[in-house]
Order: sequence, then structure tokens, then C-alpha cells
Amino acid sequence: MLEGTRGITIKPANVRYADSIVSLIKSLPEWFTEDAISSVISDIEAMPGYIALFNDKAVGFVLLDERECCLEIAWIAVDRKFHGKGIGSRLLSQVEDYACMREKPILTVKTYGGDDYEPYLKTIEFYKKNGFKMYEVIEEYKPFNGQPAAILVKHLKCATR
Ligand SMILES: CC(C)(COP(=O)(O)OP(=O)(O)OC[C@H]1O[C@@H](n2cnc3c(N)ncnc32)[C@H](O)[C@@H]1OP(=O)(O)O)[C@@H](O)C(=O)NCCC(=O)NCCS
Repeated sequence: MLEGTRGITIKPANVRYADSIVSLIKSLPEWFTEDAISSVISDIEAMPGYIALFNDKAVGFVLLDERECCLEIAWIAVDRKFHGKGIGSRLLSQVEDYACMREKPILTVKTYGGDDYEPYLKTIEFYKKNGFKMYEVIEEYKPFNGQPAAILVKHLKCATR
């Protein structure tokens, strides 16, 4: 049974899951282009993050770009069979614990910011439901080939700071 999230465990990211992460990215063409595939491979090797595993296969993952100021969510994705079942939020919750442990209580994310493309409108909803606030929409963002970029931010209230 693939439905439901029983049996899903979240573990630190590991290159051994690179193949299933690439398959996951390839299965979400509404969100990720072909170019994304080569960059996710190098990012898996370089970035900290978490993987949601089901039967030892990655069904979700998040990778973090650790900056001086903050932690940027470089990648997050969940297998479409599991969308809307709380896995993305569980991954973010792990990220928050990690951010607090690293004493970096500011999370940021850049994502497609146009108001004309339903898949990414849902993605922005996901961040807002998880407490991110819209910081700015940059209308012509060069790294996104001149398309709009939304920057969202979450300031964490870490227990021990
Ligand atoms: C965005 C994403 C990581 C969220 O993970 P998830 O496990 O589906 O999200 P959760 O179940 O924790 O949260 C559900 C909420 O997220 C939002 N959401 C965003 N995309 C959704 C989707 N495809 N299906 C269902 N809910 C979605 C909804 O607002 C939903 O709230 P609701 O149930 O009250 O309607 C996941 O849907 C995904 O992989 N999307 C495609 C890739 C992507 O957008 N990556 C981010 C690039 S910046």
C-alpha cells in the first residue's frame, strides 16, 4: 500500500539515495526542468538535508544551502502519490530543528513567483501554511531566466538560543 504515510521515516540526506531523488525530480516536470537534474546531483553531495523514506526509497527530500545569515531551502519535493499527506511539513519541521541547532533561526526560500501558474501557486500555499511570509516578488529574476521569483522567509522561535 502506497497510500498513507505510515512506514515513512525521515533521515539525514545521503548520496546513496541520489538515484531515487533524481527519479523523484524527473517525475515532477510541472515543477522541475531537465536542467534541475544535473544540479540536484551535485547538491545532494554538497548540502545537508533530509530524506523521507518508504521501503528504502526516497519519497521526499529537502536540501539546504547553509549561509552565514540563514538557511535557504534549496530543494524540497515529495512524490506526487504522497502530496498533501504531511510529508513536506514533516521535512520542514526537521529543517527547523536543524536550523535551531545551528543557531540560524531564519529560513528562506526562493520559488517561482508568477501568479499565472497553478503548480507553483500551490507550492507558495505550502510555505505559507508552514509559517513562511512573503518577503518580496522580484519581477524579472535573472537566475530564473528573467521570470518572477518569490522570496519567502520564516523567522523561527528556537527554544534554546
Ligand atoms: C510543495 C510540496 C513539497 C509540499 O509537500 P506535501 O507533502 O505535499 O505538503 P503537506 O502535505 O505537508 O502540506 C499540504 C499543504 O501544502 C499545500 N500543497 C502544495 N502543493 C500541494 C499538492 N501538490 N498537493 C496537496 N497540497 C499541496 C496545500 O496548501 C496543503 O494544505 P491543505 O492540505 O490544507 O490544502 C509538494 O507538494 C511537492 O513536492 N510539490 C512539487 C515540488 C515543489 O513545489 N517543490 C518546491 C519548489 S520551491
